[in-house]
Amino acid sequence: MYEQQSHSLLNRTLDQMEASLQQHDLRHFYTRLGANFYAIYNLFNRLYGDREDVEEQLVELVNTMARQYIARDQELKQIDQAREADHNWFLSQQWVGMALYLDGFAGDLQGLREKMTYLQELGVNLVHILPIMECPRGASDGGYAVNNFRDIDDRAGTLADLRALAGHMRKRELLLTLDVVLNHTSNEHAWAQKARAGDTAYQDYYYVFDNREVPDMFEETMPEIFPENAPGNFTYDETMGKWVMTVFNDYQWDLNYSNPAVFIEMLDIILFWANQGADVLRLDAVAFLWKKIGTTCQNEQEAHLLLQLLKDCCQVTAPGVLFIAEAIVAPVEITKYFGEDAVIAKECEIAYNATFMALLWDAIATKNTRLLNQGIRSLPEKLDRATWLNYIRCHDDIGLGFDDVDIAAVGYDPRAHRRFLVDYYTGEYDDSPARGQPFGRNNKTGDVRISGTLASLVGLESALAADDEAVIQGSINQILLLHSLIMSFGGIPLLYYGDELGTLNNYDYVGDVARSRDSRWIHRPVYDWDKTGKRRQRGSVEQRIFDGIRHLIAVRKTLPAFSDFNNRELLDVGNEHLFVFIRTSFESPEESVLVVANFDDHPQQFDLAMLGNRERFSMAPLKDAASGESPALFNQQLVIPPHSFYWLVASV
Ligand code: GLC
Repeated sequence: MYEQQSHSLLNRTLDQMEASLQQHDLRHFYTRLGANFYAIYNLFNRLYGDREDVEEQLVELVNTMARQYIARDQELKQIDQAREADHNWFLSQQWVGMALYLDGFAGDLQGLREKMTYLQELGVNLVHILPIMECPRGASDGGYAVNNFRDIDDRAGTLADLRALAGHMRKRELLLTLDVVLNHTSNEHAWAQKARAGDTAYQDYYYVFDNREVPDMFEETMPEIFPENAPGNFTYDETMGKWVMTVFNDYQWDLNYSNPAVFIEMLDIILFWANQGADVLRLDAVAFLWKKIGTTCQNEQEAHLLLQLLKDCCQVTAPGVLFIAEAIVAPVEITKYFGEDAVIAKECEIAYNATFMALLWDAIATKNTRLLNQGIRSLPEKLDRATWLNYIRCHDDIGLGFDDVDIAAVGYDPRAHRRFLVDYYTGEYDDSPARGQPFGRNNKTGDVRISGTLASLVGLESALAADDEAVIQGSINQILLLHSLIMSFGGIPLLYYGDELGTLNNYDYVGDVARSRDSRWIHRPVYDWDKTGKRRQRGSVEQRIFDGIRHLIAVRKTLPAFSDFNNRELLDVGNEHLFVFIRTSFESPEESVLVVANFDDHPQQFDLAMLGNRERFSMAPLKDAASGESPALFNQQLVIPPHSFYWLVASV
């Protein structure tokens, strides 16, 4: 019955579709639209069904998808079809990513093209360029305040440069990932300018209020994201004489998705970037897309409906393109961004594994894996054909986003434990070698997050200052240990630029007014390409880290058990310093890998008999695929050196 309704609506919609569009060869477009239309119309109806013009809006939605389908290059259309046929392509262990700021890494897009060989030398084949769309000259939240969603910032290059880069990458089978900042625009965006000039149609693109009445109601339950730099969630705009919702900085205006025109514009923009040759789109701040009085305005059901609708529409026009959900939210909420009540990903195929990231930092500070094991066990199962982006550091701060219930379950007091972690990483704690800085301190809630580069947080900065070789090596071991885990856990490892060379904090940002109050700039490096040459100098810190990571990447790619088919089993081996799991190879169990990581600064051991006869690990002679050597054994006990790991395979 419902299907019949959807068929007749689809026919009516197609009858009203722009005549000029119908002249084109739309065969594949029609098949996909037919297959997805039931979902599209249901979602659209749930979001906008109470509007009188809902059918007109639906026609506009279909026109938008068709227009972008027609604009899509033949070459990209072929990739779409190949990926549809091989739909698990992105779950492979072959993919290894890196996120980078273009200006800091390579200057501009042409520079990046030249530096591509460096990334290939490392083994990286997915490159996430942090935002490069036109943005304000002064503060722009690192490009996350966008002035124009349809052009590249001139400091980065031109659209032609981007398309050339995309083509260059395609030939080398490298994936291009771009950011689409869905939640807000800058206050310099043309829509904001029109709103400021009094155009009410554009004021409706945002949340604009005449007085504080509604904003005050919102504020009762909305947390603050940047409590130090941008307290509150609304900003008074003098020109407009009204209040506008600004959840992040005061110059980032939140888009109003209860207006279907906004949804259609942003879908068009997503498809536009897909058509420039992006393979993957990182959808920024997706938890914030829907605002409701009386809630935190995060993770609302409608935000999920919007993402499902974006995905369904993208499937019609550019089905080869993947979405990454950037939702740095509670563990139980994150997995919902793959899509709920579905078997395969219905929203975003990939999501940041912020829980794993934060738990890894807990294990480094405490030297034990109590919370890491507990937190991973509590993480809801994810869907098939959905995968994690596993990372240690990124351009943002580290939020201690694990669950208080888990902290308590392993015997810590949640408040005291969080306090310890912040003190540990910001160097307040006596015994700590870490050199991080606080970020986003909120005196009302006591919440604090942490900035700093990987190397500085694991103690390399202080070890180099003390010129203590043993401690330097200890920090390098921790850098490799953490990388070994993001590469083996299941999902796409996303390295952060600079970490492959052990880059330390950069304190220059304090001298720049547009950045000085945002400590995240401490870990957004500017490469000195003369220094990158040190990776070739035997024994240098850079060489030890770069070669270590490069080797891990190369080995990861040879281990099919590391592809992500929800094939991970966590094991309790009765030693609280160890994190142990099996990655099962379903096709050939003899290729399964036992991952063992020791977070302690002393050797640790466990009895192999604890494994039972899982995949023959307790019986067969073992080999560490990472080092190519046999692991140390003592009386059937596997011995793991301090801050070390094994990727064990049965060697028969
Ligand atoms: C995302 C970005 C972050 C930015 C925020 C607001 O969380 O990663 O850098 O500040 O969105 O756009």
